[in-house]
Amino acid sequence: MNDSRGSRIDTIRDIVNYRFNNIPDRYLRNEAFIHTHGVAQAAALIAMKRGQNVELSVIAGLLHDISRYTTGISHEHGPNGSKMAREIMRDTDLFTESEITEVCGAIYFHSEKKRRHLPFDEVLKDADVMQHLMGDPLDSPTKKDLERCRALADEFGLTWEEP
Ligand SMILES: [Fe+2]
Repeated sequence: MNDSRGSRIDTIRDIVNYRFNNIPDRYLRNEAFIHTHGVAQAAALIAMKRGQNVELSVIAGLLHDISRYTTGISHEHGPNGSKMAREIMRDTDLFTESEITEVCGAIYFHSEKKRRHLPFDEVLKDADVMQHLMGDPLDSPTKKDLERCRALADEFGLTWEEP
């Protein structure tokens, strides 16, 4: 990292932004940008705190909902997004197979908020929850996110009050 093409994060961010710009519905398009970039930044913060790979955490954040937003289908968007992310990462020729497997594994499982996976996978799940918390701090978290909100507030010393 790297050369005149810029960083790997920049490359993935460009691809994601390009695809999101083609979402016809402006509400979904706005949500795609706000949520995705928020998750990527939250992933950086959480990865730094936990000693996980920051670059790959940001890339997982950027790609995690690519299927949901570009197809409009939420069902199974973890596994479908993982497949789409794998193709995108391979096409760039910038990542090793093991890096692709790590990122796509986290994307595959990211909707399973009640289960625990590898520490790297947990960064993405918590970043997803943290973005909801930061995107609208007055909004009540969903029931399935509540436990993670409490744990994040504790881990980061937040004065978050449960709605
Ligand atoms: Fe998400």
